[in-house]
Amino acid sequence: MSSIKISPSILSADFSKLGNEIQALEKAGADFIHIDVMDGHFVPNITIGPEVISKLRNYTSLPFDVHLMISPVDNFIKNFADAGADIITIHPEATSDLVSSIKKIKAFNKRAGVSLNPGTSVDKVLPVLKMIDLVLIMSVNPGFGGQKFIETTLEKVRVLRKEIDSKKLKTQIEIDGGINFKNSKMAITAGIDILVSGTTIFKENGGDLKKNIQLLKTG
Ligand code: DX5
Ligand code: ZN
Repeated sequence: MSSIKISPSILSADFSKLGNEIQALEKAGADFIHIDVMDGHFVPNITIGPEVISKLRNYTSLPFDVHLMISPVDNFIKNFADAGADIITIHPEATSDLVSSIKKIKAFNKRAGVSLNPGTSVDKVLPVLKMIDLVLIMSVNPGFGGQKFIETTLEKVRVLRKEIDSKKLKTQIEIDGGINFKNSKMAITAGIDILVSGTTIFKENGGDLKKNIQLLKTG
């Protein structure tokens, strides 16, 4: 049984019926719901905020894996914690003090994640690795679904896998962007724990969510 977890990104879902889409993902075997929050400032796109997330909260008991592509991020950590996020993932470039932002997330009893863009060195996260629950490796430049997978980002996964295993940490590694049936195997071999996918899950095989989640899990 594959231990790989799947966190479908609702960025590729039908935004006119997000509640139903989330319920369909749960039924199809998703482990998390990946919610991409974009502010049009940190990334060149705008999506949803805490109000919408609080309305979606009652549609599922699956953990909300909230990816904050907003800056400055500190001002909104409480809003997303109150809205029902379970994991709050931030980008180091979106805060002047990464340690204090992580502590803020933990203070709300939420799991804390740090996301590294393709151009951001893994050195940014090594000093805080034991403080956080998740490292989100971006395999595309954030802002849009449906982009091409950047294979060189897997090197960061390998470095993190070694670091986490050698230090016996519980930090999980998640990869996000351009994941499909061809490259998911490479990502799994590199050492990821959680795969994010939007386009592949919602668009492949006529949108058969269950089949697409299963195919990604088995790599
Ligand atoms: C991009 C988002 C990703 C994206 C993944 O900025 O962070 O989560 O939605 O979508 P696909 O799987 O379509 O690349
Ligand atoms: Zn994301």
